Amino acid sequence: LSYVASDINYEKAKVALKEYIEKKKKDINPRYRPLYHLAPPVGWMNDPNGFSYHNGEFHLFYQYYPYDSIWGPMHWGHSSSLDLVNWKELPTALLPETEQCFSGSAISENNTMILMYTGRRNTSVEPYFNESQYLAFSTDGIDFTKYEHNPVLPGSPSGAPDFRDPKVWKYDNDFYVVIGTKTLENQGSVLLYKSKDLRNWEIVTVLDESKGDLGYMWECPDFFELNGKFVLLMSPQGMHSQGDRYKNTFQNGYIIGSFNYTTNEFVREQQFQEIDYGHDFYAATTTEANGKRYIVAWHSMWEVSHPEAVDGWVGQMTLPRELSIVNNRILMKPVETIVNLRVGVAVDGNIGLNEVREFGKAVELFIDSDLNRTVNLLLEGRDGGGNIRLRWNPEDHKVVVDRDSGDIRQVEWSPINSTTWRVFLDASSIELFCGEGEVVFSSRAYPLGGWKLTNQSPQSVHVKAFNLKTNSG
Ligand code: FRU
Repeated sequence: LSYVASDINYEKAKVALKEYIEKKKKDINPRYRPLYHLAPPVGWMNDPNGFSYHNGEFHLFYQYYPYDSIWGPMHWGHSSSLDLVNWKELPTALLPETEQCFSGSAISENNTMILMYTGRRNTSVEPYFNESQYLAFSTDGIDFTKYEHNPVLPGSPSGAPDFRDPKVWKYDNDFYVVIGTKTLENQGSVLLYKSKDLRNWEIVTVLDESKGDLGYMWECPDFFELNGKFVLLMSPQGMHSQGDRYKNTFQNGYIIGSFNYTTNEFVREQQFQEIDYGHDFYAATTTEANGKRYIVAWHSMWEVSHPEAVDGWVGQMTLPRELSIVNNRILMKPVETIVNLRVGVAVDGNIGLNEVREFGKAVELFIDSDLNRTVNLLLEGRDGGGNIRLRWNPEDHKVVVDRDSGDIRQVEWSPINSTTWRVFLDASSIELFCGEGEVVFSSRAYPLGGWKLTNQSPQSVHVKAFNLKTNSG
């Protein structure tokens, strides 16, 4: 895997950007800054990219525009972690040149980290853009050099201009990549390619595509084996809401099926299912390490308001979670190392009707209640804001997350074992894990001055809460 050093101006731009970020950090208003979720140091963040394990460390990159709190020419921000919960900020890994650096993935090979990403270029003719796949290399895991012969995968076979978000992996001695695109009939689709050297690719097959029901474009595909099944994870654009389902601007979900590397045929065994039921979860991506499959997603959504924008930054990542398949659905559990963040017990006891408990900004709650009866818990900012209600309706067995009195996400839950709710609160987010992770909601919420819990259920609930240490330095 040979490459040449980029030219000197690119190196100068990297140095200037680093100085800019350090300077702008001082202007950030900290009120909604997460204390233990990964967020951009300044500016805008969207999709997680290049989630990978390299020389004993996790790396997580992200779609990044450092110069404003809105989406702009895409860079790759970069952080690393030993345990997936304490993150170290690293220099911006990729800067746009003639191409914007759209989403992609990473692979660690012979001590080299290789990024594969979509280069999006403007063109003078309709549709005024072109997407193709690029490589960049690093031997120290910090400084990345773009491949001199980019792009390595110039265009989709159908000619569709949307052709992006490569997710690369290795199986036996071959590299594989799935890429999101759309068919000429405007249906979301995922293509599978194969390579011996990451530079020369041949198409293998259309792995799967929408048949009129799963949207016009599949962004950020991922494909992996889990508990003996294969999972196609993707973010479809253009699905219509149906009852409780598909209420966000865009969806994020998965199809479980079978696959083998001889026929390269993916056979669906289950219908598409949403992976998270909250308001703010998109572009999820996974990696494998120590025999476990981890997932992380953009803890936000397109075309929604971001109250943190006026504070100088936008977007954060969800907590990393561990995946498994039980009863033909994916369960998500917070990574075990989350316990590294606990600094002490804040509350441990029963909370009766209309009783209140106050917390700091960063807290983990275990809530036990009688599921034969209604549960109704109000979470708010101690100084206002927030306003997110967690409910359980024993009549229809639905868990309800009601934000700002009416912006509802809900889904049926049948606990396979544990009936505990585990809730992670940070300065502008909430994640609710029901039971073993059968049902998870990730939403943003904006409390002022720490969190406050009021039990408005006709029963008392048991709450054990841990204060979480911050990794903000
Ligand atoms: C998904 C997405 C990707 C694209 C990136 C651009 O949120 O639209 O398809 O690569 O964001 O920032």
